[in-house]
Amino acid sequence: MEIFKKIGTWTLRILGALLFILLMAYGIIYYKTKQRLNKVYQVNIPNQQIPTDSASLASGKHILDTRGCVDCHGPDLGGKVFLDDPALGFIAGPNLTGGKGGLGRSLTAHDWIRGIKHGVDKAGKTLLIMPSHEFFHLTNKDLTYLVGYLQTLPPVDRELPKSTLGPMLRILYQVGKFPNLAPAELIKDHNAPVSFAQQTGVSKEKGKYLAVNCQGCHGDNFKGRDLGIPGIKPSVDITATGNPGKWTEAEFMTTLRTGRTPEGKQLNQKDMPWNVTAQFTDEELKSVYAYLLSFQ
Ligand code: HEC
Ligand code: HEC
Repeated sequence: MEIFKKIGTWTLRILGALLFILLMAYGIIYYKTKQRLNKVYQVNIPNQQIPTDSASLASGKHILDTRGCVDCHGPDLGGKVFLDDPALGFIAGPNLTGGKGGLGRSLTAHDWIRGIKHGVDKAGKTLLIMPSHEFFHLTNKDLTYLVGYLQTLPPVDRELPKSTLGPMLRILYQVGKFPNLAPAELIKDHNAPVSFAQQTGVSKEKGKYLAVNCQGCHGDNFKGRDLGIPGIKPSVDITATGNPGKWTEAEFMTTLRTGRTPEGKQLNQKDMPWNVTAQFTDEELKSVYAYLLSFQ
């Protein structure tokens, strides 16, 4: 039948045009992503003495344990694949040790600091997904403790393939849903001074320093946030107006150490990394509690 043939050809033409538009749109997204990720950052790194005494190394290990590094770089810091999905891509936290396949031996103190604090690699380009925008505020002292400890990691032989970005991740990044892809972009002024002083004891200021690492998930004002990314659970209000406002300091501490809330809910480490907060000292947890409750 002539008429059906005609409709058939038109349907094909329309589908072809749609496919062409989609491919063009993706081409633009691909190109723009490449352009943004290739930006070169100029960062000044002052010469720092890296301490190697045992007290400094212990402080360095504590910083490592309380900043979630193991979640992406593996419990032995020998590297870990934390995303392997055809649409999103393949992303691995690299092996940080001096073993086979590790970065450890090739990084100088300058390189360590540039990577951790600025999210920038040797070539001056942004690292992918490494949350340096949450480590930028680390005091110089804490940063040098951390690097000192990283330089003593027992070597682990583990070679991981290079990370590759899937189409969905590029799209989410371009529409502004996944800015964390390029941490160096999130640091407004790479050469701004650190606004925190080294703290001792229990204080809101210390709580503020530690709570920077909660903001990525709980939001800048800690009132909870939905990142809108499939597979990532929305977080909840952890200020005076949320459940922590009803808890005693002791209950707050137990929750962050065991993942079990006073309401009897067991938090999943994959959603809420209480394995990390469990490593906080009493002083640190009390400081975070005091700071969070100051948000009404
Ligand atoms: C959310 C996951 C995640 C967390 C948490 C994380 N990293 Fe990373 N890190 C990565 C990824 C992914 C890369 C590789 C980035 C790339 O290849 O572009 C990386 C790269 C690095 C590099 C390599 C820098 C370079 O120049 O190549 C260092 C050093 C590093 N991370 C240290 C740390 C330390 C120390 C911590 C904790 C304070 C930490 N990371 C926490 C995901 C993470
Ligand atoms: C990787 C994302 C992520 C990070 C980082 C994170 N949280 Fe959470 N947190 C969540 C999510 C998601 C929930 C809700 C889990 C649920 O409902 O099962 C949660 C729940 C909580 C709860 C329980 C609240 C309630 O009403 O039961 C507390 C308390 C909490 N977080 C405190 C913190 C603190 C303090 C930090 C920083 C030291 C932090 N979180 C860092 C994602 C995160």
